[in-house]
Amino acid sequence: MTSNPEAQSENLLDRRLKSVLIDADRLRSRIAEMGRQITRDYAGRDLAVVTILQGGAVFMADLIREIHLPLTIGSVSVASYHGGTASSGTVSFHQSRMPDIQGKDVLVLDDILDTGRTLAAILRRFGEECQPASMKVCVLLEKQVERVEPIQADYCGFSIADEFVVGYGLDYDGEYRNLPMIGVLSEEFIH
Ligand code: IMP
Ligand code: MG
Repeated sequence: MTSNPEAQSENLLDRRLKSVLIDADRLRSRIAEMGRQITRDYAGRDLAVVTILQGGAVFMADLIREIHLPLTIGSVSVASYHGGTASSGTVSFHQSRMPDIQGKDVLVLDDILDTGRTLAAILRRFGEECQPASMKVCVLLEKQVERVEPIQADYCGFSIADEFVVGYGLDYDGEYRNLPMIGVLSEEFIH
């Protein structure tokens, strides 16, 4: 037990995790690796990185700084959880205007691929309304579950077991997105 109040408050959020699955160093080095691969694959193309808010915001901020090519960024805001720890089955768009990706080689980012419903809904909508030149999927995490929709990640940071995780963009009931690591919440903080 420390008597330094600042050191204590630094850990207020981390303390709510019962385990850390992926720490900040592993996240950083894997994302740098993904950036190198994307840099190789998209050289000479017209890259647009579009992230899914809110969860994909942290991932995009770090990943684009590891991609050493000209690119544009965009976002699309959807909800599929509505506060719980299980996918609700419906994907609702929070905006009617889609990002400007006509003729671009689009890389759609998300924090995690679970049932595949979110990415399927977004790819479908982009395909119908936005005329991109190409679309690929890049996720930080992929859950080892049977998908409801046939979505495969073209780039994936880590494959994880079917467990509810928070941190690095992923939330529980709107919170924990600012944790620098990916972890599992202690039961006492799940209501
Ligand atoms: P899917 O539509 O079932 O593939 O779920 C994808 C979305 O659900 C992601 O964009 C996340 O926002 C959310 N999600 C899925 N699994 C988790 C989790 O373990 N923790 C937090 N959010 C999750
Ligand atoms: Mg999400």
